[in-house]
Parts: sequence; C-alpha cells; structure tokens
Amino acid sequence: MSDAALCPSRSAARVGTMTARTLILGQTLTFADDPFKVPVAEAAIHERRGGVLVEDGLIATLGPADDLLAAHPDAAVTDMGSRLLTAGFVDSHAHYPQTAIIASWGKRLVDWLNAYTFPEEARFCDAAYARETAGRYLDLTLMNGTTTVCSYCTVHPESVEAFFVEARKRGLRAVAGKTCMDQNAPDNLRDTVRSSHDDSKRLLERWHGVDRLGYAITPRFSPTSTPGQLEALGALWAEHPECLMQTHLSEQTDEVEWALSLHPDARDYLETYEMHGLLGEGALYGHAIHLTERERARIAEADASVVHCPTSNTFIGSGLLDLTGLVAGGNRIALATDTGGGSSFSMLRTMAAAYEIAQLRGAVLHPAQLYWLATSGSARAMRLDDRIGRLAPGIEADLIALDLASTPAIAQRADRAEDIWEALFPTIMMGDDRAVAQVWIAGRAMR
Ligand code: GUN
Ligand code: ZN
Repeated sequence: MSDAALCPSRSAARVGTMTARTLILGQTLTFADDPFKVPVAEAAIHERRGGVLVEDGLIATLGPADDLLAAHPDAAVTDMGSRLLTAGFVDSHAHYPQTAIIASWGKRLVDWLNAYTFPEEARFCDAAYARETAGRYLDLTLMNGTTTVCSYCTVHPESVEAFFVEARKRGLRAVAGKTCMDQNAPDNLRDTVRSSHDDSKRLLERWHGVDRLGYAITPRFSPTSTPGQLEALGALWAEHPECLMQTHLSEQTDEVEWALSLHPDARDYLETYEMHGLLGEGALYGHAIHLTERERARIAEADASVVHCPTSNTFIGSGLLDLTGLVAGGNRIALATDTGGGSSFSMLRTMAAAYEIAQLRGAVLHPAQLYWLATSGSARAMRLDDRIGRLAPGIEADLIALDLASTPAIAQRADRAEDIWEALFPTIMMGDDRAVAQVWIAGRAMR
C-alpha cells in the first residue's frame, strides 16, 4: 500500500514552528460506558467530523474538528478525512511464539499442541530466533491495528527477553510472561517448580513497569503444571499482585477431564488454580467455554476475567462461548486472537468470529459491543483501562484510523449506511489489515 493511499489528506504543520502537539482529524468513535450495561446511544460517542489533540504521547482533548482547530491554531494537523479514529485494538491473549505455525491443519487441542506447537516453541531456546519472531509478530499485529497485546512466551527466559526488547523498541504498551510447564510436555520444554518460580520472579523484577511493559505470571494450563508448580506460582503472584496472571481454562471437554484426572483434589477445573492462589483480580482465563455454574460465579465474585478467543474456538473445534450469559452473570469479558491457535492476527476478524459464535447461540452482538470488547473491554480485563482502550483526556495516544471502504465489497455495502454502526459493521465482518490506514503509538505515527 502506498503512503498516498494511507494518508491521502495529510497536511503539514499549520505553523512553521515545531510543536509537540498534533491534531488528528477524522470521524471519531469512543466509549464513555460499557454498551453491555447501558444503551449504545449512551455508551458510545461518535463525531462525524471530529479530532483528537495529542500532546506528549497522551490524548489532551477531543471534540468537533472546527472547535479544536480554532482553539489550537499552533498544533500540527494530520487530517485523515472520513477515516474513523478510535483507540487501537487490545489483544488480551496471544502466543507470539506460534506466529509461524498459525493455520496449521487438522488437529484438536492436545494433538495440535503436540504436533505443531511444542516443536515450534522448542526453537525459542535460540535468542536470535526469538527476537526475529517477536519483531515479526509485533509488526503483523501493528499492521492489523493492535496496539497492545498480552502474550504468552515459551518456557525459555530468552523468549521473554526477546518479546520485551522488541515491544520496547516499538514503544508499545505490552504484557507477557514466561510459560511454565513441569509435566506433560517434551523434555526440552519443561522447567521445574524451582526454576519456573525463580525465572518468573527474575523476569518480572527485570521487566514489570519498565517503560510501558508489564509482566503476567503464566502457568500454561493445569495439565502441564504439577500442583507444586501451581502452588509456587500462586505464591509468587501473592508477592507481586501488581502483575497479571494468565492461563487457559476449560477450552475443550476432554481437556477438562484430563485436568481433573491430574488434580483429583479439585472439584472443577477452576479449582485446580483457585486452590493454589491462582484466582483473583488480574487473572485472565483464556477460553473458559465449558464452565460449571460454580466456576462462572467464582470468576465473577473474584472479579477475574474470561478471555474470549472466537477464531481459535472454531478453528480448533473447542465450542461456543456463552458470552451473553457470562456478561449477565457479571463476568468481565475480554476479546483476543489466541494467535496461533486462533486463525488470524486481526481483531476485526476476531470481532466477526465473536459475532458469528453469538449468532450460533441465538444472541446478537451490536457492533458497539464488539468494538468495545476489542478495545475498552480487553483493556479493562488487563487492568489498563485508566491508560488505554478509549479516547479521553489523559489516556495514552495509541490510536488507529480505519478506512471504512477498504475493499470494493466493503465500500459498496458501507455506501448504503445510514449511521456509524451500519458503516462500521461491514468492516468488522469483512475487513482486514487493508482497513487499517494508520496506527499511532503514544502519538507517534507508525507509517
Ligand atoms: N492450552 C494450553 N496451551 C494452549 C495453547 O497454546 N493454545 C491454546 N489455544 N490452548 C492451549
Ligand atoms: Zn492460548
């Protein structure tokens, strides 16, 4: 894509002097509230000709374009025309080391892990390979408008270093953690109770809070951790509650049975974590499809989060999440690609899959609800909603500009649109990286 196609109406600074202030103009869309809780008209704020004033990497203010132009005559102006300015996407569950094996054919979860995932993850003992993959992964996600990810690394500390170095180089707000496994994994991917605790501790002390980076304590899932490892990681989390904790929960029914057979003292899958201190605020449970009533209630009570990974759930054949039931039960929900069990790097494609799964369960998600999940909802689950995920004064200026007519098929449908939701929905359902016209990280244009 040429630069001209990306930014057709970009203009130079309005005055000759350098300024740290940039006024980005376009349609603007953000959320003042949760559209699952209040009517869409109350939750969403759309400005047909709006703008965002960015100063020192933060959003200073936003509003109608004409008002901002009049109030800030010294600001440099970037005019994105009719493109839609929103917060960048927040992908709250991904595996960057699985970048090169995305779209691997023909397996369900456990066979997919053994056939594709574990052999690929074994390569991350090589720091150079880890750096190269982390860089490629972050560039792919940025192309797709994702400005924050929460990623699993591999068992190797080198893979965590590589991810944080590459994320820092790009100025990203990002979260990641060393994947811990001390059973049911190949020899070259297993750590121990001691090394998983000590390596995780060292890595979180080194990286948590450095620039825009955060650490997530990361037991892969209870089938690959002994009770001793879960206990050690629960203790580490108790010492460092400022960190997130991410793991997988109840993704496939045979996996649930396997987890319970390995942890016979637990009443259910969630309790394999809960009994070792791995349930609480800041816990992110990927998938969580096949939950009992007790599990749903405990996750809500603990104010932990369920991370919906819809392209993964259809691709690996895991099942259909009861998203609206979980929301009604008071659960925090986030949205994620689960790259590379998920079949896309794009949060647009991920929103489309969430819509389709809801339809298959007899529920209809509004485009505002989908977009909120992909931005504010995921930021909220990651406890970052005071920093990212919406357009508001003081929020970090991680922004995207979406072209709502990025292909002929989308353009001809959007042409009929009577409001912003009808204009946006074709891009949600049919859009990809071609719809992402520009990305700003902390106010810096990436293209
Ligand atoms: N469960 C345990 N590990 C994984 C993984 O890497 N991907 C998915 N989708 N599920 C898992
Ligand atoms: Zn996963």
